[in-house]
Amino acid sequence: MAVRQGRQWRSVCKGLVLGTLLTSCMILLYCLSTPQTHFSLPEVPVPYSCAHRPSQLRSKQTTNRSQQASGQTCTPKVDIMFMKTHKTASSTFLNILFRFGEKHRLKFAFPDSRNDFFYPSVFQRSQVKDYRPGMCFNIICNHLRFNAPEVAKLLPMDTSYITILRDPAELFESSFHYFGKLVPFTWKIPGDEKLTEFLREPHHYFDPEGFNSFYLKNLLFFDFGLDNTLKLDDPRVEQGIRFITDRFQLVMLVEHFEESLILLKDALCWEMDDVLFFKLNARKGSTVSKLTPEFRAKALEWNAIDWKLYQHLNQTFWKKVDAYGRQRMAEDVAELRRRERRDGIHLHRGGGEL
Ligand SMILES: *[C@@H]1O[C@H](CO)[C@@H](O)[C@H](O)[C@H]1NC(C)=O
Ligand SMILES: *[C@@H]1O[C@H](CO)[C@@H](O)[C@H](O)[C@H]1NC(C)=O
Repeated sequence: MAVRQGRQWRSVCKGLVLGTLLTSCMILLYCLSTPQTHFSLPEVPVPYSCAHRPSQLRSKQTTNRSQQASGQTCTPKVDIMFMKTHKTASSTFLNILFRFGEKHRLKFAFPDSRNDFFYPSVFQRSQVKDYRPGMCFNIICNHLRFNAPEVAKLLPMDTSYITILRDPAELFESSFHYFGKLVPFTWKIPGDEKLTEFLREPHHYFDPEGFNSFYLKNLLFFDFGLDNTLKLDDPRVEQGIRFITDRFQLVMLVEHFEESLILLKDALCWEMDDVLFFKLNARKGSTVSKLTPEFRAKALEWNAIDWKLYQHLNQTFWKKVDAYGRQRMAEDVAELRRRERRDGIHLHRGGGEL
């Protein structure tokens, strides 16, 4: 009897040990087979605001909307996403942002070790220097390819989205001159006037799969994270334009830079002195377009999505100017110019140029 019980007891023990071993092995295998869970960033909700006194700011916004709407008093907005586009006087604008950031001691989301966020790959918040989920950042303004969901996980909920556009024909011309050498398919374009030769037969030279080819077709649309090679009648073009219109509170225009700054001052509740600017990178002679009306038309046809986007946002822009008041706008622009002449040279240069 005792011997049989002993044997039974031993086999139960063996079973238990084996079972434990197997379970451990399974757990170990499971852990090893799902490594992604350890590397993806946890989802921490972003704060409502990253202003220094968010509670006060919030109460003001919610309890006295009528006062704010009438423009009597408001709290300056400090949480800003500036979508920098190519060749659009953006270093001049960045200087304004850096000066404002210094004045209010704001925290900028800078890229790690580079000047841009790994352009042309789309933005990921892990590219932000010293980023940890749940951190508070006020401003992002370095070059990036827009990626709305990732930006939304980085910046607070009350962030103002701002960008600036340039006439697509001039943008194309400028981009061709600055980035053309980086686009291999342009190397085989014959002659000295490569730009006009390209515009004569763009479909012959353009290679949508070619390295860096986005620089030479609908670059604006591309920068917003969208597909720059779509056909104009593709429904995704219309959707993309609507997406940009809905996402960005203010779209400024290079061609109307001063009016843009007044609209910005109004939208963000800033002071006139905050938007005084230095013309950085101003190359008067070389920025004048050399395109004839014929080639301008060809450039717009080639960049048809950007042209559609620009025309749409141009309408929005002038509607905003009308709402602001044409007369009031003219007066404010004159005031901006007056202060610029008076104070411009005494202002120090903020965080410098990117
Ligand atoms: C909000 O603003 C309006 C208009 O200026 C003013 O009449 C009202 O008293 C304000 N309300 C509060 C709660 O401050
Ligand atoms: C922009 O809009 C204004 C006002 O509607 C118009 O006069 C102007 O021609 C437009 N410009 C372009 C490039 O569409």
